[in-house]
Amino acid sequence: MKRTLEEHAARFDEKAGEYDDSKSEEYHACANLVVEHAAPGEDDVVLDLATGTGAIALALAPDAKRVVGRDISEEMMAEATRKADEAGLENLAFDHGTFRDPAYDGPVDVVTSNFALHHLSDEEKREAIAVIADLEPRRFVLGDVMFFGEPDPDEPFYSPEVDDPATVGVLADAFTDAGFSLTAVERVHDQVGVLVAERGPTDVDAAAE
Ligand SMILES: C[S@@+](CC[C@H](N)C(=O)[O-])C[C@H]1O[C@@H](n2cnc3c(N)ncnc32)[C@H](O)[C@@H]1O
Repeated sequence: MKRTLEEHAARFDEKAGEYDDSKSEEYHACANLVVEHAAPGEDDVVLDLATGTGAIALALAPDAKRVVGRDISEEMMAEATRKADEAGLENLAFDHGTFRDPAYDGPVDVVTSNFALHHLSDEEKREAIAVIADLEPRRFVLGDVMFFGEPDPDEPFYSPEVDDPATVGVLADAFTDAGFSLTAVERVHDQVGVLVAERGPTDVDAAAE
């Protein structure tokens, strides 16, 4: 990580009030794809990591049994809670947790994350994906800044001073090493995409052996 967790949390605490109004077309396209691929059923528990102001969590809550949101920014989660209350959604819970320590040990069917894993180094992303695999979700849908071609800091979405996005290949390797099969790759922009990783009962058993 190019900034500490505390520095990232402070950055997002500051942005929380204006965050929702500052998003690009590609961000919305990416978030919509994450929601579409997550597709939880009415008995499913969803864990949304780096939930922020709850864009993904709130969109999935009406279809899921429960949505658990985790983030490091209290102000971003305060916005998420305010929006959930306003929408009358009662099956969401937001609390402090990180990618590598989500502070959640209940059942999880679907894990989602949008526009945040790129804050971690590639080695930290691998650790996070292994932690997520240990929770044994059947699906992990990751929308994020990721490189389909050569990294270009002059193009949108990549700020090398704070971000550390991976190539699609590095992410695909981390998923398969953690026992997931990559079942969909969606390119939104040369530096933004959505990956869908799934684990069947067989994959879960094999990874445990
Ligand atoms: C660009 S926002 C994305 C928020 C939301 N997922 C969305 O789609 O709008 C990035 C979020 O990641 C959170 N974050 C950054 N590093 C994190 C980490 N290591 N663990 C958990 N959350 C993190 C920030 O606090 C911030 O709320």
